[in-house]
Amino acid sequence: MAEFLLNGAPVTIDADPAMPILWVVREKIGLNGTKFGCGIAQCGACTVHLDGKPVRSCSTPISEAEGREITTIEGIAGPDGELSKVQQAWVSEQVPQCGYCQSGQIMSATALLRDTPQPTDAQIDAAMAGNICRCGTYTRIRRAIKVAAGMQPARGEGAEA
Ligand code: FES
Ligand code: FES
Repeated sequence: MAEFLLNGAPVTIDADPAMPILWVVREKIGLNGTKFGCGIAQCGACTVHLDGKPVRSCSTPISEAEGREITTIEGIAGPDGELSKVQQAWVSEQVPQCGYCQSGQIMSATALLRDTPQPTDAQIDAAMAGNICRCGTYTRIRRAIKVAAGMQPARGEGAEA
């Protein structure tokens, strides 16, 4: 049995303590916004927050979430469903291409801006380095992070994929 908060709501669920958070969230609870990419903590597609910090849910057992709070992509919009600043910037800057990596990208960006509201390029690169995008949307991601932060993107940043 595992007990934790998921997107603000208490959850008690019968799950093997070794089951990765990813599979609990997707298969047992049915929230499939969090994606399976590599399964070995290398791509970031499965990023969720554990007590506000980004973790690789494919490689983090549900036992680590006991008594703590998991936040998934489904949990970052406002209470009335209004998109978060990061989500709004992702839309306005048309970041996604295929989209597969993007919930993980948004979760990493959200954690970055919570801790560092005005990040430097180096801080953005460091925070986002573990999130792989096979479509190469990195410049648009950087631009969207700056837009969400209320910063001026560099000239040309985000003009290309
Ligand atoms: S699926 Fe978890 S890091 Fe790739
Ligand atoms: S948008 Fe396709 S993998 Fe990132």
